[in-house]
Amino acid sequence: MKLILLGPPGVGKGTQAQLLTKEYKIPQISTGDILRGAIQKGSDLGQKANSYLSKGELVPDDIMLGLIREKLFGDVPLGGYILDGFPRTLVQAKALKTMFQENNDTLDAVLSLEADEKLILKRLSSRRTCRNCKAVYNLITKPPVVSGICDTCSGELYQRNDDKIGTIQNRIAVYKKQTEPLIDYYRAAGILIAIDSSGSPQEVHGFITSQLED
Ligand code: AP5
Repeated sequence: MKLILLGPPGVGKGTQAQLLTKEYKIPQISTGDILRGAIQKGSDLGQKANSYLSKGELVPDDIMLGLIREKLFGDVPLGGYILDGFPRTLVQAKALKTMFQENNDTLDAVLSLEADEKLILKRLSSRRTCRNCKAVYNLITKPPVVSGICDTCSGELYQRNDDKIGTIQNRIAVYKKQTEPLIDYYRAAGILIAIDSSGSPQEVHGFITSQLED
């Protein structure tokens, strides 16, 4: 199965991708995680991407397209995956369509996660991430057992640079301008499934799997 998770920052794409990965045994490909990993390593990609992420702006399309082409259609073709955070612009969506056509491949569905902006702001400002294993927590809805420490690997929990309030607001504005038009694009293609993401992670997951099985 080849899926795209679309939706504003903090709506729960990463959380749902993790649950879908377990359910369907297919990998999550998170462009945000790939970029943060590259920044941590100080690689060429990381150096190029750093200033965009810290401001909540999108990394240029040409960089993202090179990265995704290599991941999806490189030497080892993937049987299935969940794309989390890609595509994010119409240019990226159209280029992805061309890549699929060139490889006689098809996309199964685009899950468009939706939630109220107030809820999104609350989720993002209370998110904490493990520096070591990247597990995601939430101070309100999923706190760690010991404050500041990852339950799984005892790594340090930190607040993402772009989860500060000013940057969150810019990310939401960037989403509305550059990514939201993809909802109509994929609806017109007949593969969009709208998902109410305001329930608990398990409730949202149950709704997604029932929609996919339909
Ligand atoms: P990225 O890492 O993709 O960030 P994002 O899209 O802004 O999404 P988030 O990771 O912030 O949120 P999420 O929807 O995954 O929510 P989560 O599940 O963590 O991208 C970061 C940056 O990279 C971009 O700004 C850009 O610069 C760059 N980039 C990436 N891809 C790019 C591309 N294609 N083109 C150009 N640039 C690109 O949940 C959030 C919190 O809520 C957590 O604490 C979680 O525990 C909690 N939570 C989740 N679901 C629930 C629920 N149902 N109930 C209660 N709590 C919940």
